[in-house]
Amino acid sequence: MMTQHFQMIIRGGTLVTHAGIAVADIAVADGRIAQIGGLDAAEADTVIDATGLHVLPGVIDSQVHFREPGNEHKEDLETGMAAAALGGVTAVFEMPNTSPATVDEHALTDKVDRATGRAATDFAFFVGASPENTTWLPDLERLPGCCGVKLFMGSSTGSLLVHDDETIRTVLQNGQRRVAVHSEDEERLNERKPARQAGDPASHTAWRDVETALKSTRRLLRIARETARKVHVLHITTAEEMDLLKDYKDIATVEVTPQHLTLESPDCYERLGSYAQMNPPIRDAGHRQALWRALDQGVVDVVGSDHAPHTKDEKAKAYPDSPSGMPGVQTLLPLLLDHMNAGRLSLPRLMDLTSAGAARIYGIAGKGRIAVGYDGDFTLVDLKRQQTITGEWLASKCGWSPFEGQTVTGWPVGTIVRGIVVMRDGALTGERPGRPVRFIDTLNG
Ligand code: DOR
Repeated sequence: MMTQHFQMIIRGGTLVTHAGIAVADIAVADGRIAQIGGLDAAEADTVIDATGLHVLPGVIDSQVHFREPGNEHKEDLETGMAAAALGGVTAVFEMPNTSPATVDEHALTDKVDRATGRAATDFAFFVGASPENTTWLPDLERLPGCCGVKLFMGSSTGSLLVHDDETIRTVLQNGQRRVAVHSEDEERLNERKPARQAGDPASHTAWRDVETALKSTRRLLRIARETARKVHVLHITTAEEMDLLKDYKDIATVEVTPQHLTLESPDCYERLGSYAQMNPPIRDAGHRQALWRALDQGVVDVVGSDHAPHTKDEKAKAYPDSPSGMPGVQTLLPLLLDHMNAGRLSLPRLMDLTSAGAARIYGIAGKGRIAVGYDGDFTLVDLKRQQTITGEWLASKCGWSPFEGQTVTGWPVGTIVRGIVVMRDGALTGERPGRPVRFIDTLNG
């Protein structure tokens, strides 16, 4: 009998699949999973010994901001995806609030061109909804390399904004894909600006208060119901929104971020000052607990990092001149593994939130599970490894993390994109195989 020869074999790892958690070998051919188990006699160009390690479906971070074009001093597509690969992430969805904003075909195609050849991970880009481009959205969301439409209902970093019911309705009436939404109420944000206390980033939570988020999410869900459009509500921060969202699970999926699950006020503002400032804000322990409860109950569909790098100089400005946002693509998985080891979620649930969730929400083709025929995207993790998050390890141009100095249990030790190793034992291999993620509804163009 001829010996079978593959592109890659991963031997002896403990696979985390929808069938459960069990030791098995995996073979990859032409970038896709070719066989699971029964590979004793087979050979491969690349053989990885994963004994003692867990093999997860490649982690998909469905919310990152990489700043290219326009603000490459904070981050660029190459450094952003390098950080992703070091953190065990195999694919990223990048947000449109760059400069220029990604609001037309030219800007979207430009991002795909810029990423190609420089990307350690696979990628897709959101197109931003604006009052000017609503009628183009059905075509724009189907462009190669586009994951869907992003709608900012409240102002954040950049100028993208659609805040009146009429235009929000028009956005939701144009197109088919799930619309990703930043949900904070613009009118209330404007009214409450006086709540900001100069020099006190903790007052960010008084300005962008619970009602600001709740009012917007209530409006969004009402219009989504009216228009029967699927929505994905990003970075939910309040108990009240979770209570509302549970009644809209037919049309609304829900994201939380690792930072909202990990940090809480007032501690974060006392320790980190404006480095803890983001939109929507980190809130108190009661809200943090409510996010975990919603995660336990299945109301939460996905964890995205909202990686939003700003330089230390920018962050050091006195509040409210300090920009909102913190990096996170590299620490998403280490933090979740640490929460898993602390008993806050199971390994299958972690897998669901970091790979299968994004695949289901956005209709990704061929990713999000370990199964024959799917892309050979894997994240190798050492569940017991204790490691401190350090500045030297971070690849983001911004050069800091709110989690620096924190020791976590559980660490990514390998990142594999369609059968190509892009990170092993904390070092990038230099491979940049990243390609546009494919979506089920546009496989025929
Ligand atoms: O804090 C944030 N920063 N929230 C956002 O919605 C945008 C992000 C950024 O791009 O800086």
